[in-house]
Parts: sequence; C-alpha cells; structure tokens
Amino acid sequence: MSKKKIVVTGGAGFIGGNFVQYMVDKYPDYDIYNLDLLTYAGDLTKHKQIEDNNNYHFIKADISDRETIFSVFEKEKFDYVVHFAAESHVDRSITDPEIFIKTNVLGTQILLDASKHINVSKFLHVSTDEVYGELDFDPTVFFTEDTPIQPNSPYSASKASSDLLVRAYYETYGLPVNITRCSNNYGPYHFPEKLIPLTISRVLNDESVPVYGDGKNIRDWLHVYDHCSAIDLVLHNGANGEVYNVGGHNEKTNLEVVETILSALDKPESLIKFVEDRLGHDKRYAIDPTKLEKLGWKPTYNFETGIAQTIQWYLDNKEWWEQIISGEYKEYFEKQYSLKDNK
Ligand code: NAD
Ligand code: TYD
Repeated sequence: MSKKKIVVTGGAGFIGGNFVQYMVDKYPDYDIYNLDLLTYAGDLTKHKQIEDNNNYHFIKADISDRETIFSVFEKEKFDYVVHFAAESHVDRSITDPEIFIKTNVLGTQILLDASKHINVSKFLHVSTDEVYGELDFDPTVFFTEDTPIQPNSPYSASKASSDLLVRAYYETYGLPVNITRCSNNYGPYHFPEKLIPLTISRVLNDESVPVYGDGKNIRDWLHVYDHCSAIDLVLHNGANGEVYNVGGHNEKTNLEVVETILSALDKPESLIKFVEDRLGHDKRYAIDPTKLEKLGWKPTYNFETGIAQTIQWYLDNKEWWEQIISGEYKEYFEKQYSLKDNK
C-alpha cells in the first residue's frame, strides 16, 4: 500500500504548526506536506526539530493562487487536505478586511476545487466557533453544531463564508468534507498578537497589558495539543459532511486570564491597562463538545494545567517570541494600540 499523503495548509502558523509536529511524530508512515505562504504569522524556525525527517516536506505557496495550487495538487495527488491557512486575527480584520476575503474565502474555494479535481479522500476544514456569533452571559447556554451561523466581525464572516462553501462542495459534488469549529486555542508558538501570548510576553518585559473594555468578555480556552488530537480523530473517523465543535468548558473572562498570568509570574496588577473596547466585541463564546466526545475525543488539559504549561513554554523559548516582537510586529503593536485611548 502506498504511503498516505497529507497536505496541511497553514502549517507554519500556530495551530497548523503544532498539528504538523503532532502528525510527523505520530504517523511516521504518512507523508506530511506543510503548504504555507509564510505571511507575517508563519515561520519555519518552529520546525527545526523535524525539518530533516523523511516524512516532512515544505511547499511555499499561496492558497489564493489557483494555478500554483492546481499544479501542486496535480503533482502530489494528496489523499487528505487539512486546511488551517487563514488570516486569523480579529483586530486586523477590523482595520483591513479585504485580505481576509481573498485568503479565507477565495483561498478555500480554490483548495476545494483542487481537492475535487484530484478526488481527495477527505477535506478537513478548520473553522472557528466565532461563526456562531456571540452568546450572552447565561452560563447554561452553549454553541452546538445546530446553532445558527451569525458572524459579527469581518474575520468570522470570512470564516463563515468558507464554511458554507465547504458544505456546498459536499452537497453539490459529494466532496468528502468535515468542518471543525473550535474555541480559542492557546499553547506553544501562539503568535504574540493574541491575548494570552501578548500578555505573557509583555508581562515578562514589565510592560502594560491592554485589556479591551471592562475585561468581562468570556472566551472558552482550548489547549492546542487537545485541538490537534481532535482534528486527528475527525480526519480518520469523522462522518463525511459533518460539523464537529471542539472545546472543553474552560470559560474565563479576559480579566481572569490576565490576572492568572500576572499571578503566575509574580507581577503586579498595576500592569493591567484598560483601553477602548474592540468594535463589535463578541461578549461570550462557549462550546458544547458532546458530539465530538461521542466520537471518542477527550481533552487532556484544563485551563489551570494548560496555562501553567504555556507560561513555562514562553519562559523556556524566549528567543522565539523575542525575535517576533522585535520585528515588524513592533509597528503593528504601536499602530493597533495607539488607536485605543486610555480609559
Ligand atoms: P495563524 O495566523 O497563526 O497561522 C496562519 C498560517 O496561515 C500562517 O502560517 C500563514 O503564513 C498561513 N497563510 C496565511 N495566508 C496564506 C495564504 N494565502 N496561503 C498559504 N498560507 C497562508 O493562525 P492559527 O491561529 O494557527 O489558526 C489556524 C486556523 O484555525 C485558522 O483557519 C483559524 O481561522 C482557525 N482558528 C483559530 C483559532 C485560534 O484560537 N487561534 C480558533 C479557532 C479557529
Ligand atoms: P484574541 O486573542 O484576539 O482572540 P479572539 O478575538 O479570536 O477571541 O482575543 C481574546 C479576547 O481578548 C477578546 O475578547 C479580545 C480580548 N483582547 C484584549 O482585551 N486585549 C488585547 O490586547 C487582545 C489582543 C485581545
């Protein structure tokens, strides 16, 4: 039997990068192809440990470049596509929505076409719980796979659009697809523009942490390693055409998250700086993972163990995030946060 070929789009980013490492380690018999454009969010230094493995391959390509994607797919004849590549930051989508449509919507459609063209055995589309919009603060209400799609930000609208295209390729052409919708991930190699790594990196430098609005918005936190095992399970056992929510009942207010990190690093709460709220800021996300649990998924981290592991990782891997925050990220940070007044 020939080796299975899996292409992971966005495998130089945060979650895709962790997934590539997980698959290269777990499946020496598969060939894992990391297809990534290496935007500001992608870097290959994270793959130093695996770059010489026989079962790891890198392809630099833009998913919104039809000609290149078709020629890569025709040449490699992948069995599975696991699609992470995206513009992923809500704040950037508020200031510059257009690239979100190009990458997240057009890029997904081109990948779907190329996958149909070579008859892949599975197209797994990694989406987000943000496509469901927001929940209010009633702790008994969760997103299920049947919650209506009601995205509120340009980012979540672009992801929702891509989800609908994936569904349409299943219904219209019978392409074997799955969609996973996960809650907020955190863990190693999380780009320091997002709340948790931004807080850890700034606090370690004794810099203030910008908290939007009153800090009471709630997110449901999922350790990236648990997300990787969920995707592995859906890839191999998910029923075609089905959506699976991924999350583990780890709801925290943003303020609780920041306070937990400050306390773990023994830093004062005076570093918290309340700034103007994000436009259209979703109040609460919370996942009901029952359907995925029935398929056999069990997370291994709760927020307390996961955040401790993550903080330790950032302490042990300073050179990785320091090289990011000293580059063009610096300009982004100044522009993004000068838009927000002190309260
Ligand atoms: P990320 O921003 O860290 O990484 C995105 C990767 O995609 C980068 O390596 C980048 O170079 C690559 N990329 C961007 N545009 C590309 C293009 N045109 N062609 C090829 N590659 C391109 O993102 P992430 O946080 O790892 O998120 C991965 C996926 O998971 C995304 O689809 C995102 O919507 C989804 N998701 C993320 C979270 C989260 O908490 N981070 C939560 C839910 C869903
Ligand atoms: P983020 O990490 O950007 O993820 P998402 O918007 O996809 O949930 O933000 C998580 C939460 O933290 C969100 O409610 C916005 C808030 N936030 C801040 O308060 N300050 C910040 O500097 C950032 C980046 C986010």
